Amino acid sequence: MSIRKILCIGAGHVGGPTMAVIADMCPEINVVVVDINPDRLTQWNSGTLPVYEPGLDEVVSRCLGRNLFFEPARPEVIADADMVFVSVNTPTKEYGEGAGMAADLQYWEKSARFIKPHLKDGAIIVEKSTVPVRTAEAISRILHDNRQGRRFPVLSNPEFLAEGAAIRDLMEPDRVLIGCEETEAGRAAAEALAAVYRHWVPPERIVLSSVWSSELAKLTANAFLAQRISSINAISALCDATYADVTEISRAIGTDHRIGSHFLEAGVGFGGSCFRKDILNLSYICQQQGLPEVAAYWKSVVEMNDHQITRFTRNIIAHQFDTVAGKKLAVFGFAFKPGTNDTRDSPAIYVCKKLLEERAHLAITDPRALENAAESLRGLGGEIAIEPDPYRAAEGAHAIVLLTHWQEFRELDYQRIYERMERPASFFDGRNWIDAKLLYELGFNVYRVGRAPLVHY
Ligand SMILES: NC(=O)c1ccc[n+]([C@@H]2O[C@H](COP(=O)([O-])OP(=O)(O)OC[C@H]3O[C@@H](n4cnc5c(N)ncnc54)[C@H](O)[C@@H]3O)[C@@H](O)[C@H]2O)c1
Repeated sequence: MSIRKILCIGAGHVGGPTMAVIADMCPEINVVVVDINPDRLTQWNSGTLPVYEPGLDEVVSRCLGRNLFFEPARPEVIADADMVFVSVNTPTKEYGEGAGMAADLQYWEKSARFIKPHLKDGAIIVEKSTVPVRTAEAISRILHDNRQGRRFPVLSNPEFLAEGAAIRDLMEPDRVLIGCEETEAGRAAAEALAAVYRHWVPPERIVLSSVWSSELAKLTANAFLAQRISSINAISALCDATYADVTEISRAIGTDHRIGSHFLEAGVGFGGSCFRKDILNLSYICQQQGLPEVAAYWKSVVEMNDHQITRFTRNIIAHQFDTVAGKKLAVFGFAFKPGTNDTRDSPAIYVCKKLLEERAHLAITDPRALENAAESLRGLGGEIAIEPDPYRAAEGAHAIVLLTHWQEFRELDYQRIYERMERPASFFDGRNWIDAKLLYELGFNVYRVGRAPLVHY
């Protein structure tokens, strides 16, 4: 089956960029992206996209209105589609059975029920959202309509993009994973999707598997990545206690080809919309399958992350003479990582919350994420200033707390910043990012993660 018309449900961080790249790479395919949030659609159609990703503006501007359309879902658009990607959010469930652990699949199921009456026979459904293993089976059962004899192959095609590098990852993926049912229809559907990707992805990077393996591979990938961060952060705690240097350890072990150097930077902890929720979901699935030891193992990755955030925040308070009440602290960076405006589950939320509870006055600055930062902190109370200019954010502050390693923060004039701060001026570098020696020579007391502090006495 040759794919001419694609529909994507969900114009979020995954749906928007992924469909933009498909439209860009496959000019003969018409791609329509729908969403229940009309503001999102308006933003995609405006000059100010809802998602910041390097290179995304250029890709969207090449295809928007040509073969890429963001619009409300209409029955005719659904009926027209040869292939439907479902890229809706699958957050952690906040109610009932599995609350705080399981994935909330209500958006997925609602999407399936919404498209079902309009789908044309044989339309291929592609699971793009990250979902628990065996979700495709449930979706198939919802979609299949024995009375009318219509069948829709369901594929798993998890997205491995990293926010901040989404366009690069979509253009040059390490692999594209397609999980299909071991039936003639399943294999034909997988081949149709593979043909879409072959427009720009080398065939050897398109990997086929069973649907269940594909679903579980995505959860496993995120669990392994997060586990590396928690592992090095655990070692950073020991470094702080012993004055070994975690960056030296990372270098030493990262050169071992069996270990590799990625995801070995100690810091304030991981964030983002995926790691926590996917690991909790994995742990929940293990628990449900009668594997409590395996569940506890994966859950400890999240617990170590929480511990690291708490440890970092306590360290700030301890080095502010055990009180931050009434003190201005400048928070440099709120996005969960550089290159994105996404603040979902950012460590900054937890750090700021704790500092506000201790009655600190916060001035938050970030090159891209201030709007989302304000949203993430809404309702917390306390003194919060959202300040686009880092120099003004630091003016009169007792300390700078760096939480996102934006390149912009390396390029600031710290002499100028230091002169306008209270004394002693402290710098808490939650990402081991800034030249600590330089800051120390300027007069700052510098506190890092898993590295000896540089302090003036
Ligand atoms: N963000 C990432 O880096 C990333 C990476 C890989 C996989 N994923 C997975 O991809 C999925 C989507 O993540 P995201 O970050 O794009 O989420 P998102 O919240 O940015 O976007 C989801 C969109 O789906 C829309 N939506 C929800 N229900 C709908 C419905 N019934 N009809 C139409 N639209 C609907 C929402 O309004 C929202 O705009 C999740 O399962 C996530 O785990 C995310």
